[in-house]
Amino acid sequence: MIINLEYKNGELSWGEVKLRKIAEEFGTPLFVYSADEFLGRLKLLDRCADYRKLICFSLKSNSVIPLIREAAENGFGADVVSGGELFIAEKAGFSPKKIVFSGIGKTNEEIFQAEQKGILLLNIESESEYKFVKKLFSESGGKLNFGVSFRVKFEVELEKLHPYLGVGKKDSKFGLSEEEAFLLYEDAFKSKIYPNGLHFHLGSQIKDMEIFRKAVELAIRFLSKLKEKGIKLEWVDVGGGLGLDYENLTEPSFKDYADSFKPIADEGYKIIFEIGRAVSAPSGILITKVIRKKKTSAKNFLIVDAGMTEILRIPLYKAYHKIIPLTQGDSEQPFDVVGPICENSDYIGQNVLLPDLEEGEFLCVLYAGAYTSSMSSNYNGRTFPAEVIIKGNRFFLARRRQTLHELISRDQID
Ligand SMILES: Cc1ncc(COP(=O)(O)O)c(C=O)c1O
Repeated sequence: MIINLEYKNGELSWGEVKLRKIAEEFGTPLFVYSADEFLGRLKLLDRCADYRKLICFSLKSNSVIPLIREAAENGFGADVVSGGELFIAEKAGFSPKKIVFSGIGKTNEEIFQAEQKGILLLNIESESEYKFVKKLFSESGGKLNFGVSFRVKFEVELEKLHPYLGVGKKDSKFGLSEEEAFLLYEDAFKSKIYPNGLHFHLGSQIKDMEIFRKAVELAIRFLSKLKEKGIKLEWVDVGGGLGLDYENLTEPSFKDYADSFKPIADEGYKIIFEIGRAVSAPSGILITKVIRKKKTSAKNFLIVDAGMTEILRIPLYKAYHKIIPLTQGDSEQPFDVVGPICENSDYIGQNVLLPDLEEGEFLCVLYAGAYTSSMSSNYNGRTFPAEVIIKGNRFFLARRRQTLHELISRDQID
């Protein structure tokens, strides 16, 4: 559900703000976010998880600084996966002590940077990465300016997820098996590195809480084996992955989600959430304009000015996004809503029931705040869209549209 997104006198509004007004002022394609929805969701998880925890918003799902700053200013942390995201997190005002860093391909320079900044946890994903951390530890006289944790692949049933979305499996490139991780914990402990965290991330779009509960059981078993060796950790980073129903605009209850991890908290560990999608997707929409209508014997198309450059997750995961008009109409008929990009896979919706819109009319793609702007590209010479935030009754430009000049600014022309 998206709070306060509703038709008022036939015009789609978010709170008191008419979306047509924003679309006309800033042009399309245009991402629009509700700061209230975004922060409301983070605060809801905060209330539901009634144990010691830190919620680190996952910047890979959305990294628009004026939006994520809302999280930083309200005491939340950030989950980053590159030196670039670490840089963005700092610029947005996240305290390094509330930043966790995952990713299988962290470079030595990125790890060094994270150490310099003194982040909360570095989630190590390979033996090679561990060796570098160990070298850093000895070169700096036996101390490290960040907490060390290992990402473990707890094997739970992920069959129902898209193959690209379940990342905790044995053959996945991410993390370490329990056996591999255990040996590294032992080595780190003996070497006086004293790891203070455990990390796992099962995948994305998980709507069945049983999957999280199963992983929790395995994590508790693993933690107790570590304890038997005298290795007692402080943090358990449970990753992200809470799923959404993009068709019905619903999600599992945050309370059930938070309760899944309570058994770990009850053992005395502090929980880190790396939540992304379930916070940011419903907080954003994509407004697009109909450029052309094209009627063929097979289908009726609405060719719009947004496409896979703004919303890659549709061709990438065969993802579904609900599309509604900015202005309500009477009759409805099926249209394929397609982008202007020269790829067959460039569609936003197929057989979408819509009023018979005129060229120049606007459509709104829902649940478009996660893995959209952050995955966008300049393919086909397209410039990055503008992004606007609604906060209370006002709205403001969060990111201006990229200019044509900026599109070629890295090319050595002269
Ligand atoms: C390590 C890690 N943490 C957190 C997330 C965020 O997941 P979600 O947006 O599904 O909550 C991801 C997403 O892929 C991830 O890989």
